[in-house]
Amino acid sequence: MMFLLVVLFFALPSLITCIEVDPQTTKLFGLGLEPEKLAFPVHYFTIQVYDTSGNKVDESVGSPFSVQVEGNTDAGHYCRVWSQVLDRYDGSYIVRYRIYQTCYNTRINVLYRSQHVADSPYKIEEPIYSEDCYCPLPDVPSWAHVAQCPSTHTQIDKDLEPFPTVDFDDVLRETKKRYYQPAARSFCHYVVKDNMIYRHCYGEHVNFNMFMDNILLSMARKMILPDTQFIVNIGDWPLVSKKQTPLLPVFSWCGSEDTADIVMPTYDLTEATLEMMGRVTLDLLSVQSNNAVPWGEKKPVAFWRGRDSRQERLDLVTLSRLHPQLFNVSLTNFFFFRDQEEKYGPKQKHISFFDFFNYKYQINIDGTVAAYRLPYLLAGTGVVLKQDSPYYEHFYGQLQPNVHYLPFKRDLSDLVEKVEWAQVNDAEVAEMGRAGRRFVQENLMPRDIYCYHALLLQEWTKRLSSKVMIKPGMEHVERQHNDKRFGECKCHRLSKHDEL
Ligand SMILES: *[C@@H]1O[C@H](CO)[C@@H](O)[C@H](O)[C@H]1NC(C)=O
Repeated sequence: MMFLLVVLFFALPSLITCIEVDPQTTKLFGLGLEPEKLAFPVHYFTIQVYDTSGNKVDESVGSPFSVQVEGNTDAGHYCRVWSQVLDRYDGSYIVRYRIYQTCYNTRINVLYRSQHVADSPYKIEEPIYSEDCYCPLPDVPSWAHVAQCPSTHTQIDKDLEPFPTVDFDDVLRETKKRYYQPAARSFCHYVVKDNMIYRHCYGEHVNFNMFMDNILLSMARKMILPDTQFIVNIGDWPLVSKKQTPLLPVFSWCGSEDTADIVMPTYDLTEATLEMMGRVTLDLLSVQSNNAVPWGEKKPVAFWRGRDSRQERLDLVTLSRLHPQLFNVSLTNFFFFRDQEEKYGPKQKHISFFDFFNYKYQINIDGTVAAYRLPYLLAGTGVVLKQDSPYYEHFYGQLQPNVHYLPFKRDLSDLVEKVEWAQVNDAEVAEMGRAGRRFVQENLMPRDIYCYHALLLQEWTKRLSSKVMIKPGMEHVERQHNDKRFGECKCHRLSKHDEL
């Protein structure tokens, strides 16, 4: 009886949907089919399912796809690769794999049950390098060309516009004078010289410089960076008030309407990109999968969890108590308003981020600055209700309210109305959820995060008027060696002399 139930359970989805997958016309696309061209922490490509009548399929067909990435090391062993197929529940699947050592004569088999899909097997003779292999292309433009990066980004143009030419010695002197307050603020001066990274940090809390180190080191493994230097704000809040002129160029992870900081993808997003299929489990690929509850079965309730980092978060708790049928909201930690725990608590246990999407409406409300979860909420299978905010991340400028998300007022005064509107206009809201997800797929994938950093560095460096020098007392951020357990990486672009 148990067995029968199990069989029925698994057979049911395909019985209901009756989709006949056509492996021949099913399409595969993405850079991950040509991993020899560029190293990434994780290579990825997409499967778009087509049926035997030639129609694009827009719902899950279960888990019939499997992928094997098979290659040899130079010692003739199988090379170590970890792969995953992620169901996006919309007729498309993300395939991703992490390569741990240099692979030769690689075959990527993409199978539908036991049949090859599209042009599978993909055969690659050239070496494929792991993320930790030092094997840079000659410069940023050649890397950006292979990665098919966009040539401009509106946010970068806007941020750099006030700084047509930069005398960096002036900037550094003035930044120290204006912002050096060790207990309150932290920033680092980075220098890139001969593709090596140096820094000098100012302030008491500079641990987060490891995130900047990590992306710079990763980029330096992939492309020879120009000699350059810049200042990175390591704190939460943007630094550069628009009121205080002349403006100073400072890179930050968060921007705001009142400040003129040059924004970069947040350390959170960047780290999730570098560490996916590694130390991090929540990333912008995994969050598109991992919640199979279809839209129609998600609870039509606005969901939120988080800590007490802003008054409106407490107000949200109050509002949810007045309208328990519309909200499921709880604080998970008290830190900023410890004395309010009795009123707004008790705090609730953390729940898996993937389970957030058992609910249709995902509330995004600022913390100390922009809530860095927004990209993850957009990528998931719900729809985002976003608080109006002066704070932004590097991509907010491209998002459109009422297209990619449903906006609500900063003081929450129209939030109840918005949730009720969403309940009534279900088809429109479901489409908004899909648009938000597409936005992430088109703009925030690992390649896009690297492209943004590359473009920003390149455009910024053009503006520097003085020669880049390593200042006395700067710390050299050492390149990590590739994992020698898996052999030498044997980069074909370097002579033996250059290899580390
Ligand atoms: C709110 O959400 C949590 C987590 O999904 C769930 O355990 C709880 O039962 C929900 N509360 C209500 C009142 O539905």
